[in-house]
Amino acid sequence: MKVLVIGAGGREHTLAWKISQSHLVDQVYCAPGNGGTVSIAQNIPIKADDLPGLLKFALEERVHLTVVGPEQPLAAGIVNLFQSAGLKIFGPTKEAAEIESSKVFCRNLLKDAGVFQPSFRVFDDQSLAEQWVREQGAPIVIKADGLAAGKGVTVADSIDEAIIVIQKMMQEKVFGEAGNQILIEEKLNGQEASFHCFVDGENVVPLVASQDHKRVGEGDIGPNTGGMGAYSPTPVLSAEQEQTVIETIIKPTVQALKKAGKEFKGMLYAGLMINEQGIFVIEFNCRFGDPETQVIIPRMATDIMIPLNACVSGTLDTVKLEWKKSVAACVVLASGGYPGSYETGKRIIGLNIAKSMPDTLIFHAGTKMLQGTILTTGGRVLNVVGIGDTLSAALNTAYASIRRMQFEGMFFRKDIGFRVLNEAITND
Ligand code: AMP
Ligand code: GLY
Repeated sequence: MKVLVIGAGGREHTLAWKISQSHLVDQVYCAPGNGGTVSIAQNIPIKADDLPGLLKFALEERVHLTVVGPEQPLAAGIVNLFQSAGLKIFGPTKEAAEIESSKVFCRNLLKDAGVFQPSFRVFDDQSLAEQWVREQGAPIVIKADGLAAGKGVTVADSIDEAIIVIQKMMQEKVFGEAGNQILIEEKLNGQEASFHCFVDGENVVPLVASQDHKRVGEGDIGPNTGGMGAYSPTPVLSAEQEQTVIETIIKPTVQALKKAGKEFKGMLYAGLMINEQGIFVIEFNCRFGDPETQVIIPRMATDIMIPLNACVSGTLDTVKLEWKKSVAACVVLASGGYPGSYETGKRIIGLNIAKSMPDTLIFHAGTKMLQGTILTTGGRVLNVVGIGDTLSAALNTAYASIRRMQFEGMFFRKDIGFRVLNEAITND
């Protein structure tokens, strides 16, 4: 079987790594891939947003299954395009991907389905939005409706800050059309968790829960990033709570999408907030999380081609996933300046030594291979994953491997897992 993985980040390297271990698979392609995927797959120089180019390649090479990493090609309709050409592809259609590409659509759908979420209002008029913020007070959450590369959400601590954000979104159009409509939400407090499920339109198979660190600074402060680290499992969701999430959040959402004529097939990822009042949906994504994938997939004992194929064929009811008991922790190595501007083209030293350390996996993100040397190409450069019996053991392994590596300007958070390190993590 030939499998094409679309995307260039740590998530895609992890998926390609796991797919390449399947005895069902003879050849893995990554488009465009990165400096890490070259050693397990064939990199194809077609970008993730070049939908016609990807289709042409998949048809010519007779790719059996395409797996889409990022949300942009899904929101642009890559699944619709491939399906209409008779090709198998893992991911939701453009219509089902609206669960992520329109936060307003998602909130209204969940409201109708009776799923727990923060209270919210939708605005397409700037002065009404500003008036609402003045009435509600701060803290308050402002969100652009559409995709904004993870930058469309602000948790505003003051009314002034909220109003500046509204102006940027609705007047200055910093996110373009994504800010035509905005959401203003109640700010919830609590612990966040990422909950992923395979979905085949009807059936739901959960993956293990995880948590990530989105802020750039230690103590979870500073600007949001694509993610500076993650770990799985997490003690913030008990087995009983996971069952509650499946029954009261995931299944009603899958049914609501179906009823709306937007049947969802692929990876449904719920961002949850857990507090004394219950479990609330912060957002839904229509794809695997990054860097959550880097800690979930190494724990999967089952051949990943089984659930991937079952989602496409609508036979997920026959699939049961097996998980390793181990804990996985990921620390992201980033370029100096990220998530602002940063330099690229830096040579990474010590990668081979770090990679050969026991219980260590290194998934590349912003890298490329040039004449046998690995150079940086992005803000998030490498994902260093430690595997252990406990979270602290997994983290110690990851940090020990990081000490073997260096590139100019490299930085990473030294406090990954701090929110739960003092709590017992159980694998049951
Ligand atoms: P999102 O892109 O919707 O996941 O939002 C990004 C981040 O903003 C989340 O991971 C939360 O930390 C925070 N956030 C979003 N919505 C809320 C909310 N209603 N209450 C508190 N924090 C929120
Ligand atoms: N880790 C957050 C995301 O993938 O959206």
